[in-house]
Amino acid sequence: MPGDPTAVRDLFESIAPAYDRLNDALSLGLHRIWKRQAVAWLQPQPGQHLLDLCCGTGDLALVLAEKVRPGGLVLGLDAAAAPLRLAEQRSQASPWLRLRWSQGDALATGLEDGWADGAVMAYGLRNLADPAAGLKELRRVMRSGCRAAVLDFNRPEDRFQKGFQRLYLRRLVVPLARQVGLEEQYAYLETSLARFPSGPDQEHLAQSAGFSRARHRTLAGGQMGLLQLVA
Ligand SMILES: C[S@@+](CC[C@H](N)C(=O)[O-])C[C@H]1O[C@@H](n2cnc3c(N)ncnc32)[C@H](O)[C@@H]1O
Repeated sequence: MPGDPTAVRDLFESIAPAYDRLNDALSLGLHRIWKRQAVAWLQPQPGQHLLDLCCGTGDLALVLAEKVRPGGLVLGLDAAAAPLRLAEQRSQASPWLRLRWSQGDALATGLEDGWADGAVMAYGLRNLADPAAGLKELRRVMRSGCRAAVLDFNRPEDRFQKGFQRLYLRRLVVPLARQVGLEEQYAYLETSLARFPSGPDQEHLAQSAGFSRARHRTLAGGQMGLLQLVA
């Protein structure tokens, strides 16, 4: 199924109601810390236009919307309608934030060149049918000199880290997802990782996409990766 955009979208439609709870449980809440590191790289400023690609239920977009006040705007874009509905509900609790939610494809956003003063994509790049094309589209919609942060699982080289990741995915993620009837959907994580470019490959792809700077940093003992980009 990785590489099939319709199947991937259907998967995220189906897991949306359980997504946030499972995310917290499976990462012990640590995904918030990794997302904070993505925001720290971005250095959001008041008045900016920021983009959250593959925004899901919108947690990162909401954090960014606080940071671009006053005058800024955050656009959260996702292929699936169900997580976007949850994002919209969430943002209604903070009506003073300038947020827009849009259903669309990260490979063809429809945004004008240079629209964004910064962008994030958390756990999205791995899900795209063509990560290289995703990075090209990201570069196209960014203003030159601005920063983007792409957070995702890392594919460790180290044997111990690799073994730990396999155990984590097979013995914790899948069994926990099974308890809420989502075993198959979460087994997808390991298959999607198998075709995901390594950190150094992501740096090369980003450079080919036209980013002037691309650095992949590992987080969480090699389990996660943060691709720090300058357009
Ligand atoms: C693992 S979730 C990540 C959600 C959120 N960014 C987070 O960190 O919790 C991946 C999201 O990517 C979205 N997605 C997958 N393919 C996409 C595409 N081609 N364009 C836009 N969004 C896509 C899915 O619908 C899903 O909401």
